Amino acid sequence: MSLLLGLFDSGLGGLTVLKQLLARHPEQRFLYLGDTARVPYGQRSPAEIRAIASEVVAWLRAEGVDALLMACNTSNALAFDVALHQAGVPVYGLIDSVATQLRSKRVGVLATPATAASGAYGRAIRDHQEGALVVEVPCPEFVPLIEAGDLRDLRLYKAAQAYLQPLLEARVEAIVLGCTHYPLLRPLLRQLVPQEVLLVDPAVAAVARLQMLLDGQGQDPDDRPELEPLERGRFCVTGCAESFATSATPWLGQRPSVEQVSLQSLSRAF
Ligand code: DGL
Repeated sequence: MSLLLGLFDSGLGGLTVLKQLLARHPEQRFLYLGDTARVPYGQRSPAEIRAIASEVVAWLRAEGVDALLMACNTSNALAFDVALHQAGVPVYGLIDSVATQLRSKRVGVLATPATAASGAYGRAIRDHQEGALVVEVPCPEFVPLIEAGDLRDLRLYKAAQAYLQPLLEARVEAIVLGCTHYPLLRPLLRQLVPQEVLLVDPAVAAVARLQMLLDGQGQDPDDRPELEPLERGRFCVTGCAESFATSATPWLGQRPSVEQVSLQSLSRAF
């Protein structure tokens, strides 16, 4: 039986990770949870982010996932230990995965306010490259505007110019897209960043790390080759299923079928 891989994010962002996964492992079974009732995570306190991660991981575990890919940098930065302790299955993260692969000595990180304030990227990168310069910039406007669905919104362009300025002034060689929503902004960022500066999506490194686990899995006895990659998975959200399906369609290239689920304590005042 092939493994069921759980992925979670606050909303649409984790779909950029799912896309990287399916590009390499189109047959992978997955369960995607978008916690859209509580997006954005990035403006929340560390205590809230940890409590939410604990609840989401408990739900994924109850749904029977065999491994977990944290498709959200904010949860990685603030609650990786929570997931590790609670999941009871292997947990794969974005931050450490990309930190082991970066070769640049001057690195910029665009991230949510919570991720940037945690300093998790700086620590992880310097752990692997002593003396590296890491400039972490909080980007509070990106996620709400991306979730709103118009990637041509002029406010995104203006915000990107402002967020990139300190990185360009620091003459970084690579910019880590430190929130899973941001790979959607790659074309916009590319216009604003010199060609020689790398734009790095941590999902590539995380999926590469998963390779051994996924290569070792068994075949499904009832594997149906006619199934499309997206039909091998299940999409669940805590907010409106229809609006997630609509917003996710351009990201995935087809309309997914989406279920609304209730995590136990959504009634608590997060
Ligand atoms: N996409 C998530 C991340 O990678 C969360 C963004 C948010 O909800 O603020 O950090």
